[in-house]
Amino acid sequence: MTRIVLFENIHPSAKEVFSAAGFDDVITHASALPPKELRAAVRGAQVLGIRSRTQLDTEVLAEAEDLQVVGCFCIGTNQVDLDTAMLRGVPVFNAPFSNTRSVAELVLGEAILLLRRIPEKNDRVHHGFWDKTADGAFEARGKTLGIIGYGNIGSQVGTLAESAGMRVIFHDVEAKLPLGNARATTSLEKLLAQADVVTLHVPGGKATENIMNATTLGAMKKGAILINASRGTVVDIDALHQALESGHLSGAALDVFPVEPKSRDEALASPLIGLRNVILTPHIGGSTQESQENIGREVAEKLSRFLLSGTTKGAVNFPEISYQEQVGTARILHVHRNLPGAMGTLSNLMAERGLNIVSQQLQTRGQIGYVISDVEGVVDDQVMSLLRDHPITVRCSVVR
Ligand code: NAI
Repeated sequence: MTRIVLFENIHPSAKEVFSAAGFDDVITHASALPPKELRAAVRGAQVLGIRSRTQLDTEVLAEAEDLQVVGCFCIGTNQVDLDTAMLRGVPVFNAPFSNTRSVAELVLGEAILLLRRIPEKNDRVHHGFWDKTADGAFEARGKTLGIIGYGNIGSQVGTLAESAGMRVIFHDVEAKLPLGNARATTSLEKLLAQADVVTLHVPGGKATENIMNATTLGAMKKGAILINASRGTVVDIDALHQALESGHLSGAALDVFPVEPKSRDEALASPLIGLRNVILTPHIGGSTQESQENIGREVAEKLSRFLLSGTTKGAVNFPEISYQEQVGTARILHVHRNLPGAMGTLSNLMAERGLNIVSQQLQTRGQIGYVISDVEGVVDDQVMSLLRDHPITVRCSVVR
C-alpha cells in the first residue's frame, strides 16, 4: 500500500486524482506542522505533498525512510533540500504552469482598467465626485501591448490581449516562437518606444534587477502604462514614482514589490501608496480558486504517473525520463551512484536472477543515474533485496 501524506490544505482535486489512479491511503493535514510533529507525520510515507510553508530539510527527509517522491503543490521548491532528496533517489515535482492563466487575466484586466482611468474614477465616485468625462480614457482595441519576457505567462498575456484587439510586441533575451500576430522587437528600447502598455514577465535575480529604471521608464511613450506582476526587484520603485508624479506615465499596476510584507497584518511600505492611478495588489497574480485546483491536479498527476510508471519528466532535481508504455512482466526503477560500470553491474545482477531485459532507459544527472528496466521473469522479494542491498544502489523499487 502506498501511503500519501499531504500538508497545508492541498486542494481536494489532488485526492481525486490519487483515488482515480488507485491510491486511496491519503492522509491530509490542514496546515503546516511544527518541526517535531512534522518529523512524526512523515514517517512511513512513500509520498509527501507540501506547499511553501513545510520545510523538508535534511533532518525531516532522514525521518522519511520510505519516501519515494515529493510533490510541491506550488511553484517554488526551495523549501525542500533538493540535493539531499536527489542523493536519496527521491524526485521532487512542482506545478510551474498551473497559475499562468490567472496572472495573464489579471494583467489584461489591469491594462483595460488603467487605459480607462478606472482606478482614479472609482476613487472619485467613492469620495462624492461625479467626473463624467472621456478625457484620458481609451479603448484597448488598437493599442500596443509591449511584453518584456515572452515565456509561459508573457505569451499567454499576448494571446488574451490580441483577443481584445490589441497589437502585441515582445522582447525576450531568447528567440521565441510568436503566438498569434505577436512580433518580436529587436531591442528593449524599440519595444518601449512603441508600447502604450508595458508588462513585465521576466524571472527575478541579478540579470533582471531594475530593468525598469529612470532611463528605461524615460524611454516609454508619454502617457504609457506599466504593469509588473513578475518580481519586485525588476522595477526601480523610486524612478517609477517619479515618472508617475511627473505625468510621464499615466498609470501603473504592481502585484510584486522589492520588499513585501511578511504577514497579512503588516502594511506595505511604498512611495506609491496613495497614488490614485496606481493599482497595488498583494502578490495575488496567480492566486485563484482555479489555479489552486489546477495545482492540485497537475502535481497529483505527476506523482501518480511516477508511482505507476517511473516517469520523472518535469522533476526539478532528478534525471528526467519520459513516459513509455511498460513492456515485459515487471518494471524495475533503479537509482544508482553515477559511476563507470554501474549499468553493467545492474545488468549482471538481473541476468544472475534470470531476468531478461526487454527495454531499458537511462538518464544521469550529477551524482546519480536513473534507469527504468522492463524485464521478463520473476521479480520477487529476493531479487529486490539483491538489487536494493548492492553498494551501487541508491534506491530501487518495482512496478508490476
Ligand atoms: P518563464 O520562465 O516561462 O518566462 C520568463 C521569460 O523571460 C523567458 O522567456 C526568458 O527568456 C525571459 N527573460 C529572461 N531574462 C530576460 C530579460 N532580461 N529580458 C527579457 N526577457 C527575459 O516564466 P513565467 O512562468 O512566465 O513567469 C514569469 C514571472 O512571473 C516570473 O518572475 C515568476 O516568478 C512570476 N510569477 C508571478 C506570479 C504572481 O503571483 N504575481 C505567479 C507566477 C509567476
